Amino acid sequence: MNQNSINHKNILVTGGAGYVGSHACVELLQSGFNVVVVDNLCNSKTESLSRVQHITGRPLTFYQHDIRDKSALADIFAKEAISTVMHFAGLKAVGESCEKPALYYDNNVYGTLALTEAMADANVKKLVFSSSATVYGASDCRQYSEDLPLGAINPYGRSKVMIEAVLRDLSAADTINQHKSPWKIALLRYFNPIGAHESGQIGEDPDGIPNNLLPYISQVAIGKLAQLSVFGNDYPTPDGTGIRDYIHVVDLVKGHIKAINALEGEAFKSGGCKAYNLGTGQGYSVLEMINAFETVTGQRINYKIAPRRTGDLAECFANPALALKELGWKAEKNLDDMVADTWNWQTKNPQGYIQ
Ligand code: NAD
Ligand code: UFG
Repeated sequence: MNQNSINHKNILVTGGAGYVGSHACVELLQSGFNVVVVDNLCNSKTESLSRVQHITGRPLTFYQHDIRDKSALADIFAKEAISTVMHFAGLKAVGESCEKPALYYDNNVYGTLALTEAMADANVKKLVFSSSATVYGASDCRQYSEDLPLGAINPYGRSKVMIEAVLRDLSAADTINQHKSPWKIALLRYFNPIGAHESGQIGEDPDGIPNNLLPYISQVAIGKLAQLSVFGNDYPTPDGTGIRDYIHVVDLVKGHIKAINALEGEAFKSGGCKAYNLGTGQGYSVLEMINAFETVTGQRINYKIAPRRTGDLAECFANPALALKELGWKAEKNLDDMVADTWNWQTKNPQGYIQ
């Protein structure tokens, strides 16, 4: 495919049927982009994509393929005149990654290699990648800036560190090879995405018992789970419970649109690969999250104090200054919005997506 056949409005969204990806599809369609999704549905259902089209009143194109299937990807690039890829497809359960590390490296790292190979073959070299604050590992810092050394502490996190390294190396090779169309890559390090689209039609639909705090709290509130365990109240934080930087998923995906625009601009004119934190810069403790949930929803959350969860940090929140400076992005929504939208999604879809 040559550059003439690329349509700058055509975005390939890997993992677009998932939690963050489906919200990104809404934002892309509402911003005038055309969306092509590739997803193998290993952790999602096509119902999310039907709802994306319902919310936006716009169609998207869906391919059910695994991103490790290079020939399927080549066919998509040959057909769809893609300009940029937003890469969400990946496995994300920390516990499962410790049990099945090879699966995580194969799906996440090899999957990204297959994707970037297909992209290079099609001369599509703009990429927005879903990285994670987990790449900072067990640092002593409370607030994380992009220039901190990386060092994840579980196979999931290491898969993100490895992918970031691969993408940085691809970009660095352009300088040596003097490529005419260099890689332009934004590594977006998410803090803790929560919340849902304000319509309550799309949201997070965890398979089985949730690992993450907000989905767990909402399932206790709706009566699906009996009691929340608060993992540790003896951390060196004001109330002893863990502090995280929760970010509304709609704010998060708006950061992706800003990143796409930045890749087209001056800052990436000669190519490059840069990391950006996407967080609010504000941390909340587990007890503060429970309180906020009780206040906004009027539901009482049954909880008990339990031992610390292995591998958890006391406190972790973003320095989001670089994303503001270079992408012109900052989170707009507050904790009440995040909790209210989570609850709206949960009450409208008590069983998640039913198909
Ligand atoms: P999700 O599981 O809801 O979405 C991922 C999607 O990718 C799913 O639809 C799944 O079916 C698809 N997928 C997985 N492997 C695939 C493959 N090999 N080929 C094709 N499709 C595949 O997860 P999410 O919460 O939307 O996360 C999206 C991305 O953001 C992931 O890469 C995740 O690691 C990253 N991330 C998420 C969080 C979070 O807390 N949600 C935090 C930091 C980073
Ligand atoms: N927590 C509980 N009880 C629960 C679940 C969580 O007390 O049932 C606590 C945790 O100990 C932590 C806080 O709530 O203090 C947040 O925990 P989450 O599991 O929601 O989020 P984490 O920060 O531990 O991890 C998440 C993703 C990781 C990702 C990381 C950074 O799950 O995949 O954010 O992006 F790497």
